[in-house]
Amino acid sequence: METRERYREPLRLLKNYLRQQSEYGDSEFFLNMKNKEPSKKDLLSMLYKSIVNCKECGLYRTRKNIVLGEGDSNAPIVLIGEAPGRDEDEQGRPFVGAAGQLLTRILNAIKLRREEVYISNILKCRPPNNRTPQESEINSCMPFLTKQIEIIKPRIIVTLGAIATQTLLSSKEPMYTMRGRIFPYPSKKPVLKVVPTYHPAALLRNPNLKVKTWEDVKLVRKLYDNKEE
Ligand code: URA
Repeated sequence: METRERYREPLRLLKNYLRQQSEYGDSEFFLNMKNKEPSKKDLLSMLYKSIVNCKECGLYRTRKNIVLGEGDSNAPIVLIGEAPGRDEDEQGRPFVGAAGQLLTRILNAIKLRREEVYISNILKCRPPNNRTPQESEINSCMPFLTKQIEIIKPRIIVTLGAIATQTLLSSKEPMYTMRGRIFPYPSKKPVLKVVPTYHPAALLRNPNLKVKTWEDVKLVRKLYDNKEE
């Protein structure tokens, strides 16, 4: 059974169960909720709980933690990287190592704080020795990212690096032709804009890429402010 299919029913049941609990008024989970509908934050935490023991691919054998994502569940911007590295695997949080610190500085340069955006990855588990994700791993994991995007409903997605960009946009084009452009997403019924840029780890290896990245993130800021030409 496809991963997306497999998780649809448990998620639906969980949602119904939690809604019933809130109607009976006996769930602590809902004590502070004004509406009966679970918030985006609740839905993300339900998603996390539903995949915490995921064995859809072989990465469960070596992971320490699943890294679903973090940030504002109502954020207009979602940033997507490739996969957790060693620090992220240890802490269960995305982009907390050297590349993550650079990402935080890049966000700050366009006057955004990490807490104002949502950050995630294509893969939720670390590939051993940070090797490139395999196609089968990406296919197993993508339904979770799709679900996150459906829940958060951002206006803008920033893909960081080739794996995130090519996966999300189903493309094989290299980064230097895709970066800095605005792509409608999903391609059939577009509801949001994807702006690819270089991965911060690539900037650490090759600081010359910073100039183009700066152009890209300024474009992201314009979109965020609804001021793009
Ligand atoms: N690189 C990524 O692509 N994602 C992380 O979370 C950390 C490093």
